[in-house]
Amino acid sequence: MSIKAVIFDLDGVIVSTDKYHYQAWKKMADEEEIYFDKIINEGLRGVSRMESLEIILKKSQKIYNQNEKEELAGRKNNYYREMLNCLTPTDILPGVIKVLEFLRERGIKIAIGSSSKNTPFILEKIGLGSYFDAVSDGNDINKSKPDPEVFLLAAKKIRVIPGECLVLEDADAGIEAALAGGMKVMGVGFAAKNVKANYRAHDLLNFKFDELLK
Ligand code: BG6
Ligand code: MG
Repeated sequence: MSIKAVIFDLDGVIVSTDKYHYQAWKKMADEEEIYFDKIINEGLRGVSRMESLEIILKKSQKIYNQNEKEELAGRKNNYYREMLNCLTPTDILPGVIKVLEFLRERGIKIAIGSSSKNTPFILEKIGLGSYFDAVSDGNDINKSKPDPEVFLLAAKKIRVIPGECLVLEDADAGIEAALAGGMKVMGVGFAAKNVKANYRAHDLLNFKFDELLK
């Protein structure tokens, strides 16, 4: 298989921010007396902030107008950003740096494809920005995963055709997005059991990338 670029999802693949997303949504939901639990939270992986809010509001008795929805999403994001303040390079998930160095040594292009508008802030906190040839994130796109827009934009920025890109994803919505974009995809972490993924790995520590790129 000819792979010329690897596109990394951010949350849940490079760094474990998923627990902070949960805690921040939970705080907002509790304040509004909206039922929210970890199972509902799993459906928010890879989904944009406003679409995540709509999923959470399905459990609400109250109908919120657009201004109120923006306030709720903004409040959650403020809680989330406060939590991100304690993020450091030690929060980078196991195997990530090893894989980035392996790819860089072989001249494989490396990009980010994330739904998050906080991507620049997170990359700065964990000090990984210099590894990436391009970043495509929630600030650049109109349609969130499972739409392929974020990955197609990443491929365009690094000038590699979709068929030669491999996406690393922890979200079922992200697996759908990569496949819809005509890319190969590896399910990692939460998506390691996704049967639609071309490859699966519990984490990036022991996966044999050299065999994959042969
Ligand atoms: C994705 C997360 O990476 O980013 C989602 O998996 C999150 O859970 C989405 O909702 C948007 O994030 P942000 O940081 O723009 O609110
Ligand atoms: Mg993710």
